[in-house]
Amino acid sequence: MAANKKLLILAGDGIGPEVMREVGRLIDWFARRRAVGFDVSQGLVGGCAYDKEGVPLTDATMAAAMAADAVLLGAVGGPKWDNLPFEKKPERGLLRLRKDMELFANLRPAIVFGPLADASTLKRELVEGLDMLIVRELTGGVYFGSPRGIETLPDGTRRGINTQVYTTPEIDRVARVAFDLARLRGKRVCSVEKANVMESGLLWREEVQKLRDASYSDIDLSHMYADNCAMQLVRQPKQFDVIVTDNLFGDLLSDCAAMLTGSLGMLPSASLGAADATGRRRALYEPVHGSAPDIAGKDLANPLATILSFAMMLRYSFDLGEDATLVEKAVAAALDRGYRTGDIMTPGATRVSTTGMGDAVLKELDRLAA
Ligand code: IPM
Ligand code: MG
Repeated sequence: MAANKKLLILAGDGIGPEVMREVGRLIDWFARRRAVGFDVSQGLVGGCAYDKEGVPLTDATMAAAMAADAVLLGAVGGPKWDNLPFEKKPERGLLRLRKDMELFANLRPAIVFGPLADASTLKRELVEGLDMLIVRELTGGVYFGSPRGIETLPDGTRRGINTQVYTTPEIDRVARVAFDLARLRGKRVCSVEKANVMESGLLWREEVQKLRDASYSDIDLSHMYADNCAMQLVRQPKQFDVIVTDNLFGDLLSDCAAMLTGSLGMLPSASLGAADATGRRRALYEPVHGSAPDIAGKDLANPLATILSFAMMLRYSFDLGEDATLVEKAVAAALDRGYRTGDIMTPGATRVSTTGMGDAVLKELDRLAA
């Protein structure tokens, strides 16, 4: 067996711990059945970290994340922490991980699993077979630009400021990831911004086009304004292969794309940094859904997005494509057999708990590996 891979698990708040528990069972399965070993350590992020350690992410946890081969995160946030000052909010823990690990490329696939096509709020024919990928810039733009803040003006009224800012290298590196991934798929990239009203958007458009012309002439590149893209996603989502866009638009459009699939509870994501000399990339994997405080601790949450994030980790961090496919096949098979958590429940299906869905996936893994 090769040296164990260092994995840091940050389960976080709300449903984070219970969906992550099911990944823990998968890790045990892989160690037993596939001789894939992980050195797993755990840490706190978000509201739970604030409660215990006074900050949403300690320097020690940050250092552990930097040293890990991959980080697997559950979810952060909840009403309990809504009124904390900005710097103590659970979300700051996640944003610090993204920023300090320089995870500039956020991959958010939106895939409709056959048996779930009716769980979408859109008509079956619009979403059936959908398989698209949003590549969201994750460490720049208005999320991190300065100046930022809230200031009081001489007349006593206040002004809130954020700055949307992008440089050529920031645009270039995320566009490269999108083009490289498109080469493995449908070879089409749609770049999304608001070049009609924002200079940063115009720069985005020009730089993406320049890169395509210089290095990716095999890729079919189109450009779209972000508002039109939101509309096209609900009008005719299957027109898209890979979308590349900035941090804020990517946040909005990926929620929109997620809903096309019928459930936010199904969608994994990967956040990747640049490859170092050995080809190793810093990486964090997390479900797209949030902490869902309303159902936390009730064994109701859908663990599949976190399980599929684990599969992405096998593929992108550890080059275990076959094992990743095994997990994805097991998830598809569990759905084929009619198992559903509440969020994707349809008439005639078998309703299961978080643990029940974990059981179903493990059972399929056993079958597939037999
Ligand atoms: C996401 C979330 C985060 C974001 C929040 C929790 C900070 O909405 O990952 O999409 O806005 O990026
Ligand atoms: Mg979001």
